[in-house]
Amino acid sequence: METVTVIGLGKIGLPLAAVFANSGHFNVIGADVNEKVVETVNKGISHIQNEPGLDQLLYAAWKAGTLRATVDTEKAVSQSDVVVVIVPVLVDEKGNINYKYIDATVEEIGKGIRKGTLVIFETTLPAGDTRNRFGKRISELSGLTLGKDFYLGYSPERVYSNRILQDLSNYPKIVSGDNEKSLELVKSFYQKALNCDIISVSNLETAEFTKVAESVYRDVNIALANELAVYADSLGVNIKEVIHAANSQPFSHLHSPGVGVGGHCIPVYPYFFINNGLGNGIVQLSRKVNDQMAKYAVQQVEKHFSTLENKNILILGLAFRENVKETANSSTLLLADELKQKGAVVYVDDPLYTSEEIAAFQVQPFLVNDREKIDAIILQAYHAQYKDFDFKQFPNCQFVLDGRNVLDLKIIEGLGMKYQGIGVQ
Ligand SMILES: NC(=O)c1ccc[n+]([C@@H]2O[C@H](COP(=O)([O-])OP(=O)(O)OC[C@H]3O[C@@H](n4cnc5c(N)ncnc54)[C@H](O)[C@@H]3O)[C@@H](O)[C@H]2O)c1
Repeated sequence: METVTVIGLGKIGLPLAAVFANSGHFNVIGADVNEKVVETVNKGISHIQNEPGLDQLLYAAWKAGTLRATVDTEKAVSQSDVVVVIVPVLVDEKGNINYKYIDATVEEIGKGIRKGTLVIFETTLPAGDTRNRFGKRISELSGLTLGKDFYLGYSPERVYSNRILQDLSNYPKIVSGDNEKSLELVKSFYQKALNCDIISVSNLETAEFTKVAESVYRDVNIALANELAVYADSLGVNIKEVIHAANSQPFSHLHSPGVGVGGHCIPVYPYFFINNGLGNGIVQLSRKVNDQMAKYAVQQVEKHFSTLENKNILILGLAFRENVKETANSSTLLLADELKQKGAVVYVDDPLYTSEEIAAFQVQPFLVNDREKIDAIILQAYHAQYKDFDFKQFPNCQFVLDGRNVLDLKIIEGLGMKYQGIGVQ
């Protein structure tokens, strides 16, 4: 059997390694700098929570002896036919790109790689990086010629946390190579490893661009929905009804408005374009529109009370979206800042976090005893636990801002509270 090293055993890398190791075609080595991660994987235990099916799949591979982990990336690479890189690239608040983790990985690959190895990058990247930054460096370090002595591919990872295993088998895999031979090898690898549909594109840059374009499409589409929602509010029109009706036309795919766009993908990857030549235009404008939605939401609450000074506001959901335990760019952080600037006291509830974890974000963790204090509630992340949220338990709550347009207006108004969504009155 061929040996595959997956570098980066995080939220995406660990499921990938587990799927490859259960394919019946590969022995898999998972390489990670985090010793604790390596230790748990070597006991057949997943450190990633809330990923349906992962625990069982990882255990099966561990039991079958097809998956093991190491902190020694260089050695793992030296034993491998295929190397898959899924280590993050970071982007700061100003959109500047930080390559420290992936550059460190590339150094290890360059030192360990042997002749004939295929290296595939899956991390989301600005177009050109696989070839010009990483391929070039591996070649410099190893003395091997790209396309002849070793092969290079790029295949973006497009899965969604919380349903990664499902997405890995259902989504077509976009593949590319630095030349024809590399592309053939990349295709053949994913056919065996994932057994899913494959879409080949003509070069590495096209595949890199495709993944960023997907994120940009969603960000821009949400920005349009947000702009229309704010306008609909000014006219007293219900945007939820509008979108439902408009999307019955097959060319209309309006997304849903909301209090903001969080996570480490949609609000982040547009900067791979904005900071690389697409600085003026709809992509950048959409980022601004979406980041201003928290301010808009707080203005709606403020309008109701006239002032938010000393008002106790509860935000539901610290996570950036429903049913995940991830806070990257969560709209709750923007909401909390806006509310604090207006003098409000901010309480945050999230069933996926402990009180200590919530307090680390400089907000009050919400406790059952705080119920009577709450003046208004803002729904930010619609976790499954909020489906039956009991608003009756908040006798002094006057206003509910439904930041995801998912709550039942009738129930809330039936309790004597004022309901407002984003573009829904
Ligand atoms: N999380 C998502 O929802 C998602 C979705 C689609 C694509 N992606 C892509 O996947 C990439 C990885 O995301 P993630 O959520 O798995 O990240 P993560 O933070 O969960 O995991 C990254 C892992 O890489 C390890 N690591 C860091 N530097 C390393 C190094 N030099 N050598 C070896 N290991 C190293 C870390 O210890 C960690 O275990 C993202 O940057 C993105 O491009 C993520």
